[in-house]
Amino acid sequence: MGWTLAITGKGGVGKTTLAALAVRWLSEQGRRPVLAVDADPNTNLDALLGVQVSSAVGSIREEVKQLAQSLGTSTGGMGKQQLLELKIQQSLIETERFDLLAMGRPEGPGCYCYANNVLGAAVRRLAGSYAAVVLDNEAGLENLSRRIVRRVDQLLFMADSSRRGLTTARRLYDLAMEMRIDAGAMGLVVNRAREPARGGSRDNSLDLVPRFFEDSRVTVVGSLPEDAEVGARDAAGESIWTLPGQNPVWTAAASMFARLAPT
Ligand SMILES: Nc1ncnc2c1ncn2[C@@H]1O[C@H](COP(=O)(O)OP(=O)(O)O)[C@@H](O)[C@H]1O
Ligand SMILES: [Mg+2]
Repeated sequence: MGWTLAITGKGGVGKTTLAALAVRWLSEQGRRPVLAVDADPNTNLDALLGVQVSSAVGSIREEVKQLAQSLGTSTGGMGKQQLLELKIQQSLIETERFDLLAMGRPEGPGCYCYANNVLGAAVRRLAGSYAAVVLDNEAGLENLSRRIVRRVDQLLFMADSSRRGLTTARRLYDLAMEMRIDAGAMGLVVNRAREPARGGSRDNSLDLVPRFFEDSRVTVVGSLPEDAEVGARDAAGESIWTLPGQNPVWTAAASMFARLAPT
């Protein structure tokens, strides 16, 4: 498997934006093929990447569950695993610049453990053929604990520039430790970073960070400025590919990825 980047943080903090920026950067750097995995059911990663996930893909877990049940006792013919892999292949959106796999969410009640396990195994096999994999997660870390990937090279916690944001990020870090998530490196990205207050830095989150991440493996790996263009473009449904090269969020993200991704 190529370089694997996973992003976590509380809702609305900018995870999907960062994931899309990462996909664009990796693709433009020629680290292709890039696989984007949308593991957040409430995401708009597809729109940000300029594609549309069809509604059928959203039910992939449900289909896997049903397939697994119906094939539970049968033998012969096409193997269960093969069928599931075919299902996943069909759900994959392929473009010149990246591929996107949206994990969807279970539609009904019931246990999805088995479906999640087989799905995870199949995704790992698929991801193995990519030069880079970017995982956009929901706030929890379930997808990282075992469902989708077993190991990531870089785990990024995202926080806004507030005490509360940093508290949440620290909690997610503690959770990651508890869950024994296997990450080669862990970093904090501060989004919407504020300029230090005039005459002091009381409100500057970057100054607060060391206190929140004492005794941890986390270091600040980058910060992205607040930028109206990014928000407005997202609201207008414009993709990340047309964000101007001089946009300050893009340039900050690009230099951060250049530091993080192994050459
Ligand atoms: N640095 C930024 N400046 C301005 N708007 C931003 C910035 N980062 C993210 N946003 C906007 O904030 C909203 C939430 O971001 P999103 O990436 O969807 O968060 P999450 O995936 O964590 O829920 C989006 O409308 C996005 O365009
Ligand atoms: Mg999101």
